[in-house]
Amino acid sequence: MPSEKNLALLTFGCQMNKYDSEKMVGLLENSGIRLTENLDNADVIILNTCSIRDKAEHKVYSQLGRLSPLKKKNPNLIIGVGGCVAQIQGEKILQRAPQVDLVFGTLNINKLPKLIKEIEETGARIADIDSNSDIDTDSATIKRNGTVHAWVSIMHGCDNYCTYCIVPYTRGREKSRTKEAIFAEIRGLSEKGFKEVTLLGQNVNSYGKDLADDIDFPDLLSLIDKIDGIERIRYMTSHPKDLSDKLINAMADLPKACESLHLPIQSGSDNVLYNMKRGYTSEEYLKKIDKVKEAIPKISLSSDIIIGFPGETDDDFEKTRDIIKSVRYDGIFLFKYSPRPETPASEFLNQIPNDVKQTKFEEIMKLQNEITLSKNKELEGRVLEILIEGRGKNDNNKLMGRTRTNKIVTIPSLTKEGEGGFEKEDLTGKLINVKITKGNLYGLDGTSVSVSS
Ligand code: SAH
Ligand code: SF4
Ligand code: F3S
Repeated sequence: MPSEKNLALLTFGCQMNKYDSEKMVGLLENSGIRLTENLDNADVIILNTCSIRDKAEHKVYSQLGRLSPLKKKNPNLIIGVGGCVAQIQGEKILQRAPQVDLVFGTLNINKLPKLIKEIEETGARIADIDSNSDIDTDSATIKRNGTVHAWVSIMHGCDNYCTYCIVPYTRGREKSRTKEAIFAEIRGLSEKGFKEVTLLGQNVNSYGKDLADDIDFPDLLSLIDKIDGIERIRYMTSHPKDLSDKLINAMADLPKACESLHLPIQSGSDNVLYNMKRGYTSEEYLKKIDKVKEAIPKISLSSDIIIGFPGETDDDFEKTRDIIKSVRYDGIFLFKYSPRPETPASEFLNQIPNDVKQTKFEEIMKLQNEITLSKNKELEGRVLEILIEGRGKNDNNKLMGRTRTNKIVTIPSLTKEGEGGFEKEDLTGKLINVKITKGNLYGLDGTSVSVSS
């Protein structure tokens, strides 16, 4: 038996990173390094980092600063940096942060146990961001965080090179996983009792283009829809330029495909969209939205929006406001443009001052909050199916679930008669019909009507 050691893992960034962290935990547990909550008694600490905005990157160095005293106290502690900052900066992290022992990239996670062993044996400091191993990790190894919902990567990387974005540099070229690998992973999840999967890719609509198999994303959805036990399928992210009628029809027809679509527009202005190299106009985007709404009337829509892209004028900004009002998203992720190294937009003239970005950011936030709240209020009195994920975040006496449209619903715990009197029923993983009693900004309140499975 390998010796027992403790791992602390700090994850930043998007769902891809969460999924990669689940891989890291599984791979390290297999070599006797177990996940702990406690940084103080860790033998290995790993930061899984994000580089999407400047702030995210700064966070890494401030975290590393906080870890320095632990390293002084325990010189055998191994500190590793993985994820997108590691992939971009490699060796530089070792130079800038002497407390770091290991830098590894997004493409060689499978090598992690071997790299740690080498450090334990030789005391070397290593930066390895090359990808000469397979990116896929044996799905049985992945240590899921949760029992109801799971992330499943269907492809790696991105070939779009939007002018503001660092992801193609941190995640490499687009590479689809085979349908067999994805199918096996999801079947394994269903056997373990998982009910919902979110398929991950930077642009799921490009799925399959690089495979020998003649398969595209809607075909993949149809295949997964047939897996017994899985009740709900979600996916992200869908790039508007590649959203096809075939996908819209598949979403409308497949019983397990949830009525929720994340379709990031980024800006309502055609000038800005052109300079971002997004590959669509606002009119083309709106036409697709209309088709989606017509085919799937209950659809909930969300988007990413960037405020203050270089050269954005007041008029461009107004167009973003207009499009938000016209689509009426259920929610948006709003970002202030942040120049990223190596990306074309970071070199564009007429960068926008931060105070201007901030004012506009607040304006859009206010507008979207009004829309979100009013859409949530429209649901009051309706009966919706939710999948229970566990206890309420802030109140242990409540249960938390999600609608098919990806809205969080909190309901009072249900009780049943047990041997010692009434006890709280464990409904995690169950589908329940609830009546919505109140629509709030950050979710819905409801009461249970019936438990269906
Ligand atoms: N592949 C996804 C997005 C991944 S990054 C897609 O194309 O939709 C998530 C979001 O971060 C992007 O949609 C964008 O809104 C935001 N983002 C990316 N780079 C950024 C930057 N340099 N500054 C601010 N926001 C950025
Ligand atoms: Fe970034 Fe554009 Fe690729 Fe999304 S599609 S990851 S925004 S380059
Ligand atoms: Fe995700 Fe951040 Fe990397 S958003 S892909 S972890 S740069």
